[in-house]
Amino acid sequence: MREPIILDTDPGIDDAVAIAAALFAPQCDLRLITTVAGNVSLEKTTRNALQLLNFWSADIPLAQGAATPLLRPLHNAADVHGESGMEGYDFIEHARQPLAKPAFQAIRDTLLASSEPMTLVTIGPLTNVALLLSHYPECLFNIRRLVMMGGSAGRGNVTPNAEFNIAVDPEAAARVFNSGLEIVMCGLDVTNKATLTAEFLATLPGLNRTGAMLHALFSHYRSGSMTTWLRMHDLCAIAWLARPDLFTLKPCFVAVETQGQYTSGTTVVDIDGKLRQPPNAQVALEIDVEGFRHWAAEVLALAP
Ligand code: RIB
Ligand code: CA
Repeated sequence: MREPIILDTDPGIDDAVAIAAALFAPQCDLRLITTVAGNVSLEKTTRNALQLLNFWSADIPLAQGAATPLLRPLHNAADVHGESGMEGYDFIEHARQPLAKPAFQAIRDTLLASSEPMTLVTIGPLTNVALLLSHYPECLFNIRRLVMMGGSAGRGNVTPNAEFNIAVDPEAAARVFNSGLEIVMCGLDVTNKATLTAEFLATLPGLNRTGAMLHALFSHYRSGSMTTWLRMHDLCAIAWLARPDLFTLKPCFVAVETQGQYTSGTTVVDIDGKLRQPPNAQVALEIDVEGFRHWAAEVLALAP
């Protein structure tokens, strides 16, 4: 049974491989892609996403979303993904354009057009989802669940405690975690372990066109190294959808810190229930790394 999904993304090199998996994993029925500012500017994340859809000749609509976080200035991750956000591969020119409506409206329209509740998958900052919930709160009932790459029950990757997707827009993340949505949180606890090894990466150029393109991008991706392993943060969100058996989840109350001078963007994951609050997320705490690697190899082999 293929699951209808909407993917919100800020490509982003690890976003690119997650988009490949969302397109070619048999469990996923990708209906809409929306872009958000994060790794790089909205203009660049949108250009990158359109280039990827054109690369795969994918007939998927794309709507561009928020150019800035709800309240804060954008802090990007060009140091990890390159100035373009997807450094390393020369995509051919194309005439694709985003839809003429903003992402939160395109998400609403797609949800309402679906005969069944859909899954939102977010692999960037949560600004677009927060805007959707603010403009169209009734959409909550059309969303089966939200699967995110974001947060951490432990250490962060942009500050000592905060993970990038949450830290870029803590106010949006707080809105989402307080929304009542069913949330699956794939944070750094699992995504830092979800690595592709140098041995596997070396096979990509000979795998298929997708492998050759991803290998070129990965050569410029700075979350790890091509000579050891690379962290596939965003791919985990699709991996959970396709193979939930690879993950161990725990229902937890998660609060997003928005005020702390040193801690804003922290997902406070109450693993032991010390705050006596009802759980508002299923938090992924463990991953079967070898199983993830085998799945990733299988799904990339399904791409052209
Ligand atoms: O912390 C990892 C996340 O930040 C990933 O989504 C990556 O693409 C960057 O956006
Ligand atoms: Ca991302």
